[in-house]
Amino acid sequence: MKDELTLQEAVRRSTEHLAGHGLKTPRQDAELLVLKVTGKDRAFLLSHPEWKVAPEQQHQLEQWLEQRRQHYPIQYLVGSQEFFGRLFRVDPSVLIPRPETELIAETGLELVRTLKKDTVQVLDIGTGSGCIAVTLACEDPRIQVAAVDISETALDVARENARCLGCIDRVEFLRGDVLGPLESSGRAFDLIVSNPPYVEDLSTEVEYSVKTFEPREAVFAGPTGLEIYGRIFRDSRRFLRRPGWLVLEMGYGIVDRLTDVARGEGWRLLEMRKDLAGIPRCAVFEEVLTDLSKERSRLRHECS
Ligand SMILES: C[S@@+](CC[C@H](N)C(=O)[O-])C[C@H]1O[C@@H](n2cnc3c(N)ncnc32)[C@H](O)[C@@H]1O
Repeated sequence: MKDELTLQEAVRRSTEHLAGHGLKTPRQDAELLVLKVTGKDRAFLLSHPEWKVAPEQQHQLEQWLEQRRQHYPIQYLVGSQEFFGRLFRVDPSVLIPRPETELIAETGLELVRTLKKDTVQVLDIGTGSGCIAVTLACEDPRIQVAAVDISETALDVARENARCLGCIDRVEFLRGDVLGPLESSGRAFDLIVSNPPYVEDLSTEVEYSVKTFEPREAVFAGPTGLEIYGRIFRDSRRFLRRPGWLVLEMGYGIVDRLTDVARGEGWRLLEMRKDLAGIPRCAVFEEVLTDLSKERSRLRHECS
């Protein structure tokens, strides 16, 4: 792109370039990149198609097109992704929020609505960009969230999202391994949510762009893919109030194996919800109470 381009030409040429390299949504990607590089919005593009793109903007656009051509995620280039109607900042230290994960936030909100309390305590394990934690806090002012992640750089992004979206005072960020940071806190939660890593280490079914550009620790869980779930089931019981729920996102095709692991650790599947593609995606579990655990639970509530 050597000549001085108009907005319209920049979009057209970028679209052709990306389409020629087999990208699935070339026009959409091209438009997003041109708008990002020029700092304009779609209304401006439509009303001023003849507006000239500055040479340094063209240069930046060419660099981004080159990265996109290699399937680098568009969200990392433009720096954001929409989730539950809000724009979340993303960079390569966090998993890009997926539309199907909105089901976890939606289900969590529904469950919390049944609680007649002034304050509701929620724990989000593996918060990443903070999309679930921040959405819950923004949607229901009674909710206070503890958001855990093993990655400090992911927590920086999540903190920034909570600040920009106006709920930083109700989301606490904790760095650590699964429930480790809460170990001696004595805290109890009404709801625990998680979209943990759930892909088998040697899986060959992961898309190239996910495998190459998204954080490895956000995607891969271990040899079976169920490792982090197992730890969540084992360790969550001590931190959940009654009634209390564990809401988990599920990977494709793992519902039976996941419910087996849950059963082995004393959890019952209450409900399973499918995403828009009809894939079982969101599982709600509750603890199976023995007489001993009922007594422990009663004592825990008296103390909390
Ligand atoms: C699949 S991503 C989910 C991110 C975000 N909650 C979402 O739904 O988009 C999983 C997240 O768990 C974090 N994670 C991986 N292993 C962990 C562990 N052992 N303890 C805590 N967090 C972990 C990763 O850093 C990543 O941010």
